[in-house]
Amino acid sequence: MKIIVLGADGYLGWPTSMDLANKGHQVIAVDNYSRRNIAMQTSSEGLMHTPNLEERAKIFEEVSGKKIDVRIGDLKNYRFLENMVKTFKPDAIVHYAEQPSAPYSLKGYEEAHYTLKNNLEVTHNVIWAVLEHAPDCHLVKLGTMGEYGTPNIDIEEGWLNIEHNGRKGKFLFPRAAGSLYHTTKVLDTDLLWFYVRTFGLRVTDLMQGPVYGLSTTESDMDERLLPNFHYDDIFGTVVNRFLVQAVAGVPLTVYGKGGQIRGYLNLKDTLQCVDLALNNVADKGELRIFNQLTETFTVNELAENVQKAGAALGLNVEVKSIPNPRKEAEEHYYNPKYTGLMDLGLKPNLMTTEVLGEMLKIIIKYKGNIDNEKIFPRVKWNK
Ligand SMILES: NC(=O)c1ccc[n+]([C@@H]2O[C@H](COP(=O)([O-])OP(=O)(O)OC[C@H]3O[C@@H](n4cnc5c(N)ncnc54)[C@H](O)[C@@H]3O)[C@@H](O)[C@H]2O)c1
Repeated sequence: MKIIVLGADGYLGWPTSMDLANKGHQVIAVDNYSRRNIAMQTSSEGLMHTPNLEERAKIFEEVSGKKIDVRIGDLKNYRFLENMVKTFKPDAIVHYAEQPSAPYSLKGYEEAHYTLKNNLEVTHNVIWAVLEHAPDCHLVKLGTMGEYGTPNIDIEEGWLNIEHNGRKGKFLFPRAAGSLYHTTKVLDTDLLWFYVRTFGLRVTDLMQGPVYGLSTTESDMDERLLPNFHYDDIFGTVVNRFLVQAVAGVPLTVYGKGGQIRGYLNLKDTLQCVDLALNNVADKGELRIFNQLTETFTVNELAENVQKAGAALGLNVEVKSIPNPRKEAEEHYYNPKYTGLMDLGLKPNLMTTEVLGEMLKIIIKYKGNIDNEKIFPRVKWNK
């Protein structure tokens, strides 16, 4: 397939670009380095230095013999994106290119405005480029489980059948996001649904849980191909953050009571899910939604898992509850359905002590780079 990966320099975009190129697809990888710039502005740089996208593609070609075509540019610029879609005529676009940090989106007016503008404009531009120049192209868009929030009913895969006053209808599952970033993803889904039902686009919206992991088949070929790995309060996802805290010898910072339940998945499974979505194309006029997670944990359970994995390597890991900087339920019902991707063939790589241990071993190599100042929450919206 001819595939464009948007946000290809990101935590998920880079491993995805390599995975798809390795599988023999023709890949264009696009990014504007906005995450690197925000990370620099907010002192949230990753644990290890990662070469830029051009350099990464060169290293990947040296070790694998496979080519990734890199384009640097801002996807808010419609002409830049349009030109690429018009000339390349992709079979699929994988859209990761958003500002994905909840704390950053609530840091202040400028950050909130940037997040809203960036995320919605990029999604809207992608939709238009497809509509105008590749109407058959399959758009695989990364959404988030955070769109649903934590409702007191089971979470279906995107859609809900409702019976009301004796009549029945099928609606998008109600959304109640807990941050402005997550709200932009809700708005993305609404935009996609409008254009799908009006102009017959083919879209898969993947409601993904927090991802953890470092190693993939391709990054195992050369450590310079590792994804960017953040452990700070802005870009670090909770498992990655806990593992770095375990190595740094600082207590794992559980926000509040720690009863928050989320659905997690291994980076390797993100790659599998995207691959499965690409190989099982959504119909024309279909907004297909999958919940992309493989298991659920409370934050306390995660902390215990990391403690166990740390102990197996001789690390003495402490856990400490700190005031919750976020406005969120700390104890709640949570029962998301996630059978769609399993039905397509997803074979989960679960969060075993061994898997966490392997991550810890990589992090230990970079222990000297850990900056404890980056670990504690700097943005609060639970006023
Ligand atoms: N990582 C997770 O745990 C997780 C969980 C659920 C959903 N997601 C979603 O997956 C996607 C990727 O997440 P990630 O963790 O890889 O984030 P990331 O920030 O590492 O990657 C996003 C990339 O998009 C690029 N980008 C942003 N705006 C752009 C623009 N206007 N033009 C060009 N490039 C632009 C950034 O520079 C960055 O490299 C996001 O949409 C996020 O919402 C991620």
